[in-house]
Amino acid sequence: MEFPISHGSIRAEQFSELLGNPRVRPFAERMLTTSYVECVPGHEEAMREIMARSFDLLTAARGDDRQFRTAAATVVGDLFHKSDPDFWFNRVYRHYKRAIKPERRFAILRGLLCGERVLDLGCGPGLYARELARRGHRVTGMDFSERSVAYARESARAAGLDIEYAVADYVADELGSGYDLAMMIYCDLGALSPADRASVLRKVLRSLSPGGAFVFDFADDSVPGTSGEGRSWLLEESGFWSPRPHLVLEETKTYPELKMVQRMALVAEEDGSRIERYMIRDWCFSRDEMRDLVLGAGFSSCAFHRGFLPKPVWGTADPIFAVASAPRASEVRRVHHPCHDSVDDEPQDRDGADADRGNEDIEAHDRRDDHE
Ligand SMILES: C[S@@+](CC[C@H](N)C(=O)[O-])C[C@H]1O[C@@H](n2cnc3c(N)ncnc32)[C@H](O)[C@@H]1O
Repeated sequence: MEFPISHGSIRAEQFSELLGNPRVRPFAERMLTTSYVECVPGHEEAMREIMARSFDLLTAARGDDRQFRTAAATVVGDLFHKSDPDFWFNRVYRHYKRAIKPERRFAILRGLLCGERVLDLGCGPGLYARELARRGHRVTGMDFSERSVAYARESARAAGLDIEYAVADYVADELGSGYDLAMMIYCDLGALSPADRASVLRKVLRSLSPGGAFVFDFADDSVPGTSGEGRSWLLEESGFWSPRPHLVLEETKTYPELKMVQRMALVAEEDGSRIERYMIRDWCFSRDEMRDLVLGAGFSSCAFHRGFLPKPVWGTADPIFAVASAPRASEVRRVHHPCHDSVDDEPQDRDGADADRGNEDIEAHDRRDDHE
């Protein structure tokens, strides 16, 4: 289904117009109801009723900003009972947390996480860092989000854990050295461009002690061919994209030939103060491709593990967990040129020439699409 609007042109006063559109409403009702019902099985009827009443209220306020705001407040406050801890919204959240909760994954991942000094790349709020520190590892968490790191620091302090946190960009900044284990969890390696991915792998290797390991997860290359494409929209009083009332238009496109899923989100704040566009590209890999990348960066081996999550959360396939091993001291001497005995030597940038290949391919693909 096409949206009757073009990306980037949504303004605050168009919100209710959008809701009043006879093509948008049934689509949104179906989409939203389905996703909530999935999270709270057995509440389909209640969800349908809430959705219908919400859309009625919001549509009735068409064209009038003040009425719209009042209606939106009623929807969020009275219909969705966001503040009622027992209502479905919280159950949705609990279900979500149960299904993909990092602590739960940690229990399964634990066997892969070893070594004394650990570097958690993209540590976010520090969920893994805390679990590791509790078990006696010396952990450094790195994330470029100041808010995440502030939260992580505060929760480590509250838990009495000694964790070092750094606000840093693992693509641009140095990672330090001497780690027994580096980890990057949540398929984040696949979100990097091909050139950044290769360079981060080499940097991670340099940060490890000989024989150290890099543990990360990635999406299987069957994902782009089997995930759905589509557009959706969501009105939120406060949420992931903004703490203020906002509209999110999302579009998912799959590029099976490129083994990539692209998600675009257009976020418009209700008061019109901000309209932003976010692009997330998740590159997917076969094990052989990932092994080539990892070995090309200088790691000596790569093992794969699967079936960690209770149910697939990425389309049809679980992420694959990889353990890439840094060469041991004896191997380091063997693989490096005799004139250079430092592990800091950079291997040739195999992917350097590919720096912008990803973007060019996507544009070429889109141009083909336009002609179809
Ligand atoms: C999807 S979250 C995963 C958080 C955590 N690893 C987990 O599984 O709970 C990705 C995190 O990586 C961080 N991040 C993304 N790119 C980064 C970069 N280039 N340098 C540092 N942190 C980055 C984000 O700020 C975010 O906190």
